[in-house]
Amino acid sequence: MRDRRERVIPGGPGRVGLRHRRLLEHFGESGIGQERQRYRRSIEMEYRLELIQRFLERHLRGRPETCLEVGPGTGRFSALLARRSRSLLLFDLSRPMLDASRTSLRGRPSRRPTIQFVQGSLEDLPFHSAIFDRVVVLGVLAFVARDIGPVLMRLGQLLRPNGRILFEIRTPTQDTMSILPASPAAAKTILREPSRYHLWSVVRRGYQPFDPPHFARFEVAWLRPPYLARTVARAGLRVVDQMAIGPNFGNQPRLLKRLRRTARAYSNALRLEEETGRWPELFGAGAGLLVAAGQK
Ligand SMILES: C[S@@+](CC[C@H](N)C(=O)[O-])C[C@H]1O[C@@H](n2cnc3c(N)ncnc32)[C@H](O)[C@@H]1O
Repeated sequence: MRDRRERVIPGGPGRVGLRHRRLLEHFGESGIGQERQRYRRSIEMEYRLELIQRFLERHLRGRPETCLEVGPGTGRFSALLARRSRSLLLFDLSRPMLDASRTSLRGRPSRRPTIQFVQGSLEDLPFHSAIFDRVVVLGVLAFVARDIGPVLMRLGQLLRPNGRILFEIRTPTQDTMSILPASPAAAKTILREPSRYHLWSVVRRGYQPFDPPHFARFEVAWLRPPYLARTVARAGLRVVDQMAIGPNFGNQPRLLKRLRRTARAYSNALRLEEETGRWPELFGAGAGLLVAAGQK
């Protein structure tokens, strides 16, 4: 049964072009298991998750009034957002993903905000301007083909005065590191011949980081930090905080296992990541880059 504080606003995926159809296929019913598998509990995943949650908590202090989560997927962060805001709107291209995020919110303790679910596309946002205190976009911008500038600008317009957009972008390090442990054979090939990586990525995961555009199911944009800084500024936004996710130990499962044996060592490691992850020279070195930005 649906919670009486929940509301489902009728909507659809908007203008469904080929790229959206592919995304819907990927993030449809069958994609849910795949997404959960991707985030299955591993020591690195837990560590990165904790760093992302700490970043979100820092920027959700004071329990903001209105929060929009774009692309909640299976709802990895939705419960935290629900606890930390007074009203939460979950917005996703995929109806099955919205259902999965609703399931993830079931049975959560009180202090629940009003929750709404809307299906639609990030590239065609159906909201009035200046209505959200926080807009959270994690693991989604990579699926916006090529230029995320116009999307960021539109998302920024949704912010109320003093509002913040919290988003994550992929980095080449993240993608490269994720395949090294997964396939040592692929790692050797890639080290010998780096361009092979793209082929591996396309064939095994259906992702297409670069041209030719129609080779894979859809493209994934990698943004290097200097390009990101320009894009954010052009979108009329001002960065207030940014942090690489786990640039020191985020891809070091053995070290993390050792650190986990001592609570103090583990918490010191997290704090070290939070400090060094904010050094501009390490922005590209983590498992993704988190950005908090407000209107200029
Ligand atoms: C990789 S999942 C990330 C899920 C979640 N934010 C997390 O980090 O665990 C990407 C989500 O974005 C949604 N998505 C992809 N493209 C979208 C678009 N153009 N508009 C709205 N949602 C989109 C997908 O349906 C999926 O639920």
